[in-house]
Amino acid sequence: MRKPFIAGNWKMNTDGHSAVKLAESIVSGCSDLDSGSVDVAVCPPFVYLQQAGKALSSSRVALGAQDVYFEQKGAFTGEISAAMLKDIGCTYAICGHSERRHVIGETDELINKKVHAAISGGLLPILCVGELLEERKASKTAEVVTRQMKKGLAGLSKEKMSAVTIAYEPVWAIGTGLTATPEQAQDVHALIRNLLAEMFDRKIAGEIRIQYGGSVKPDNARELMQKEDVDGLLVGGASLKADDFVAIVKSSV
Ligand code: 13P
Repeated sequence: MRKPFIAGNWKMNTDGHSAVKLAESIVSGCSDLDSGSVDVAVCPPFVYLQQAGKALSSSRVALGAQDVYFEQKGAFTGEISAAMLKDIGCTYAICGHSERRHVIGETDELINKKVHAAISGGLLPILCVGELLEERKASKTAEVVTRQMKKGLAGLSKEKMSAVTIAYEPVWAIGTGLTATPEQAQDVHALIRNLLAEMFDRKIAGEIRIQYGGSVKPDNARELMQKEDVDGLLVGGASLKADDFVAIVKSSV
C-alpha cells in the first residue's frame, strides 16, 4: 500500500504574515490525523520558507521548496542550492513544475540535473510532468509524458529513484477550474507506473507515489484519490485556504 501524499504548492502567493498564518492553520487542522495515515507538505515561496517552516516545526506537516538549482554553490546569482534548502529544514523540492517549463522555459535536461542535485543534497524531489492542451488534443499525451519521464529521470539508480515522487499535472487543468476526470488521471497514472516498471523495475513502480495536480478542490479530491494509481495530490489554489487544504488532506485518508 502506498501512503497518500498531499502537498500544497503556494506558488508566488502569500506574504510573511499570511504565510505563517496559513502554515499554523494547516498544522492545527491536521493535528488530529493519525501520523501513519498520510504524508503532508507545503511549499511556500523561497523567501518565506524559514518563517513558515518555524510554524511547522514539530508538526506532521513537512516543508518543501518550489524549485532547486542544480549547482552546489558559486556564482549563480539568484539561485538556491539543495544544501541551502536542506539547511533551513526542507524535506521536498518540486522539480520541473509546468510553470517553470512553460513560463520560465526550463528544459527536460535542466530538470533532470535538478532532480539529481535534489537527491544528492538529501531532498526528496517531486518531478512534475504533464501535457499542454494542444498536445492532449493532438493525442500526444503519452508521447509527451513519456519523454518528460525518461529525460527527467535519466541516470538515476534504482536506489535514488526511491526518493522521487511523480506529479502528473496536465497543464490545461492547472488554475483553470478544469479538472481531469478521475478516469483521465488514472489512464496517465497507469502509463507512468508502467514506464517506471520499464525504466527501473516492478517493485519500484509499485512503491513510487504518483500525485495528480490541476484544479484539485475539496469536492473532487476523494474521487481522484479513489483511483488505483492516484496516490496523492499536488494542490495549487486550494492550498492557499487552510480549510480547503485540510479538507483535501482528510478526504485522502
Ligand atoms: P491548481 O490547483 O491551482 O490548479 O494548481 C495545480 C498546481 O500547479 C500545483 O502544482
